[in-house]
Amino acid sequence: MGKTIVIASGKGGTGKTMFSANLGATLAGNGHKVVLVDMDTGLRNLDLYLGLENNVVYDVCDVLNGVCRIKQALIKDKRFPGLFFMAASPRPDDGEITPLHVKVLCDKLSEIFDYVIIDAPAGLDDGLAIALGGADEVILVITPEFSSIRDCDTVSMTLREQGITNIHYILNKVNVKLMKSGLAPSLSEFPREITERIIGLVQFDENIHISTNMGIPIVFKKDTYIWNNFKKIAARVEQL
Ligand SMILES: Nc1ncnc2c1ncn2[C@@H]1O[C@H](COP(=O)(O)OP(=O)(O)O)[C@@H](O)[C@H]1O
Ligand SMILES: [Mg+2]
Repeated sequence: MGKTIVIASGKGGTGKTMFSANLGATLAGNGHKVVLVDMDTGLRNLDLYLGLENNVVYDVCDVLNGVCRIKQALIKDKRFPGLFFMAASPRPDDGEITPLHVKVLCDKLSEIFDYVIIDAPAGLDDGLAIALGGADEVILVITPEFSSIRDCDTVSMTLREQGITNIHYILNKVNVKLMKSGLAPSLSEFPREITERIIGLVQFDENIHISTNMGIPIVFKKDTYIWNNFKKIAARVEQL
């Protein structure tokens, strides 16, 4: 049985979709069978970041509504052997999908895949609760901004109240110069629960920004410092 990992955050724009795409591609590069599921219904981006937007025929809602079978909605990413993608519905959620539906989907996917990676919507509303339906682990993507720390803290607290305790953190868009000069919060200013459970840092790098625009996960280019960093993060994820 595979593992379902939900990538979430308090604030929007912290890098969930960028992180999902590159973690998935790296795990696939390590020989795992991985499916990336876009659960950011209505505000989807993962198809663009993967450059697979023209390959989408069926989406998660079609699967859950019985319009198609799971296999019909799986798109193979030919650049990364073992990496598959399932798109989000372009229509906003009309309330028909429940966390239980998503749990059943994740259970079925984890019979086929080693990792089911769910790109969740930002914030605390129903979309997150639905995306969390099948979660074994949650990774919250946070940026070095006080607003992001506060929102992340609120989401973590709410998750813990719901009994979800397998929470880990990725600190993204790290700018060491700003953090050292005191112009962005340094790690000592983050709550202990967060710093103790950080599984990786990703630097702010305009190449990452360019890669999401081009629809090519940045880890496609091997042996860069970013590729190495994602390798280390993936190794930690493999230990969860
Ligand atoms: N480490 C990074 N360095 C530079 N730009 C980044 C980084 N991470 C994400 N971005 C950019 O930030 C924007 C938001 O990222 P995205 O993954 O869409 O966030 P989310 O899914 O959390 O809303 C995108 O334009 C993306 O290219
Ligand atoms: Mg996103």
